[in-house]
Amino acid sequence: MALHRIGVVGCGLMGAGITQVMAAAGYAVRVCEMAEAPLQKGLDRVRDGYARMVKKGTMTGDEAEAAWMRIVPTLNRADLADCDVVIEAIAENGDLKRDLFAQLDTICPPHTILVSNTSSIPIHQLAQATTRPDRVAGFHFFNPVPLMNLIELVYTPFTSAETRTILHTLGTTLNKTVVDVQDVSGFIVNRLLIPYLFDAVRLLEQGVADRDAIDTAMKLGCGYPMGPLTLLDVIGLDTAVAIGDVLMAELNQPHMSPPQLLRQMVAEGKLGRKSGGGFYPSAS
Ligand SMILES: NC(=O)c1ccc[n+]([C@@H]2O[C@H](COP(=O)([O-])OP(=O)(O)OC[C@H]3O[C@@H](n4cnc5c(N)ncnc54)[C@H](O)[C@@H]3O)[C@@H](O)[C@H]2O)c1
Repeated sequence: MALHRIGVVGCGLMGAGITQVMAAAGYAVRVCEMAEAPLQKGLDRVRDGYARMVKKGTMTGDEAEAAWMRIVPTLNRADLADCDVVIEAIAENGDLKRDLFAQLDTICPPHTILVSNTSSIPIHQLAQATTRPDRVAGFHFFNPVPLMNLIELVYTPFTSAETRTILHTLGTTLNKTVVDVQDVSGFIVNRLLIPYLFDAVRLLEQGVADRDAIDTAMKLGCGYPMGPLTLLDVIGLDTAVAIGDVLMAELNQPHMSPPQLLRQMVAEGKLGRKSGGGFYPSAS
């Protein structure tokens, strides 16, 4: 099946990045948000992303303009009706995602593949909200999408071989490496990463070391490109808490539970870089 038009629902950190790479790879993209303000913010992110690529010389100005022209923004989900693949990248909330999948199932034609960029929600729960579980999978990008080369392809017992093949091909055309993983909450990366990040916050909470010591130790001691508290700011503290809550509900392992300090920071509106500050005051 040749893919022509890709739908993206949610134009936050991830949806904007996915929109950017899809249009740059030559796909026509419909990107759908819930309100004008987040849509505009997301489109600004995409524009800035192309401007950075032109500045770095990884894209010409003409290529960036052509990619930009392939993006059609909308606030109306019905506009996704002619998409071959729809990628969901809304907030990490199972009820919202299930409702969205049920609605997309009624809007999109039978051939459309519906995928989720969820970090932790089991994909079979989304597949069960549709009448096409063979055409539902997880397609999990990493942040920042234009720079991170991995996609986790999460398949359920219902996902067809054809769907997996189509998604592998799609990932390859984006110059990403696609790894297959079974439908277990957190998949590979977040199953391993989230307990590590939360333990870093617990060290801070317990006064074992300060912010800079924790980040410096993990960068220099383990050769990681950034420390865990910086990485939490990049991911978004609200998203990290939401992921932890799902992992805890699904797997019931105490180290998956978000630390109190993280919840408190979210309640205070400290969401990380996307809100202008988290563990660090601004971009760190
Ligand atoms: N942040 C990360 O590092 C990261 C990495 C991989 C995957 N994810 C996953 O990607 C998804 C999105 O995360 P994010 O970091 O982009 O979050 P975000 O908060 O930056 O963006 C979410 C966007 O979805 C929009 N939205 C919410 N409900 C909607 C609806 N019903 N219809 C249309 N738009 C809606 C919001 O307006 C917002 O712009 C989550 O499932 C998250 O777990 C996040």
